[in-house]
Amino acid sequence: MMHMHKLLYSALCCLLFSFVLGQEVVQGQLDRHPQPSSSHSHPSHFRPSKLFVFGDSYADTGNTNKSQFSWKYPYGITFPGKPSGRFSSGRVLTDFVAKFIGVRSPIPYRRWKYGIPLLSLRYGMNFAYGGTGVFDSVFAGPNMTTQIDSFEFLFKDNVFIARDLESSVSLVTVAGNDYNTFIVRNGSAQGWQSLITAVVNQITIDLRRIHGLGVKRVAVTAIEPFGRLPFFQLATASFRQCNETLNSLMRFHNLLLHQAVAKLNKETKDSPFVILDLYASFMSALNNQGSIKFVNPLKHFCIGISREYVCGTEDESGAKKYTICEDPESAFFFDIAHPTQNGWRAVYSALQATLRQLLY
Ligand SMILES: *[C@@H]1O[C@H](CO)[C@@H](O)[C@H](O)[C@H]1NC(C)=O
Ligand SMILES: *[C@@H]1O[C@H](CO)[C@@H](O)[C@H](O)[C@H]1NC(C)=O
Ligand SMILES: *[C@@H]1O[C@H](CO)[C@@H](O)[C@H](O)[C@H]1NC(C)=O
Ligand SMILES: *[C@@H]1O[C@H](CO)[C@@H](O)[C@H](O)[C@H]1NC(C)=O
Repeated sequence: MMHMHKLLYSALCCLLFSFVLGQEVVQGQLDRHPQPSSSHSHPSHFRPSKLFVFGDSYADTGNTNKSQFSWKYPYGITFPGKPSGRFSSGRVLTDFVAKFIGVRSPIPYRRWKYGIPLLSLRYGMNFAYGGTGVFDSVFAGPNMTTQIDSFEFLFKDNVFIARDLESSVSLVTVAGNDYNTFIVRNGSAQGWQSLITAVVNQITIDLRRIHGLGVKRVAVTAIEPFGRLPFFQLATASFRQCNETLNSLMRFHNLLLHQAVAKLNKETKDSPFVILDLYASFMSALNNQGSIKFVNPLKHFCIGISREYVCGTEDESGAKKYTICEDPESAFFFDIAHPTQNGWRAVYSALQATLRQLLY
């Protein structure tokens, strides 16, 4: 039975593979973002002037310190051509959302701390930090509450004023590291339900707070299909199995999140909260159902030579402890947990309809 299954699976994979090769494999269009004005067919009422970003490595554009692997080759190989602190080959979700609402990707908060000209604040600010959870995670760095504290501090200090916030949008990507942390530290089956409830309750508090400070529209990500992250498939090495247990837990998170956001929207008159469904958009990209096709969506671009090493690590002698494939943009995943720039582009293209809701 197992054997039959495997055969069937290989056959399916081959089929998918030739199907994709037979089509136009879209790559190398790295700088052709749709222009904001042409990307929505309805006239929009709201023209945001700033983007404020909170969360984790899916949104971080350079806040971690330079000892992080995201500051090492091959991160940033596609854009900007060298490591920039982004956990990808290039642009991440923040960059695509910024482009969509018609502003430049906001500067990382870290650069503000080191002193930058005021003019660089005109597009907002990115507080997202690789490793962040709503609660403290196994990774060093500020949690969500601390990120929002930093934002509030700048607001109280008149670095940003009320009018800035009224014309702004916020992007929030969080929760993956809360679940990573639980898996690493505990992972018991009984613990999940109460953890997920606690995480979604804390997200609700955080969203209410961001909007309460005056941000007009807030987009929060539903969690991605965790069971499909290469990270959770290292043991099998085939990267073809999906951990359905984890996926169903993530669907439970998303269900609670939908309920919480519906409630938040009822509390406020203009329904300011929207959910960016990373679950459906990752699935659509991984199943090659979108307009951007991946030669082998189940493989990732960069992998440590063994479980102890992450992409980008070297030993004391400078020897690389990872291997890379030829073309980062032919893969959906860049490393064991993060999409490539083309991966994010595919996700972004699946999120268009929801993103449009930010502009009403
Ligand atoms: C950078 O982060 C590492 C690990 O989190 C920490 O040990 C180190 O002190 C940090 N360096 C600076 C300059 O903040
Ligand atoms: C976030 O971090 C701060 C500072 O370490 C801590 O005081 C606070 O309890 C944390 N908040 C949550 C929700 O974990
Ligand atoms: C793991 O979670 C279970 C269920 O919540 C709890 O009873 C147990 O104490 C936890 N173990 C650790 C090491 O945190
Ligand atoms: C799925 O992931 C969970 C959490 O890491 C793990 O306990 C479980 O063994 C995994 N299941 C499979 C089939 O790999």
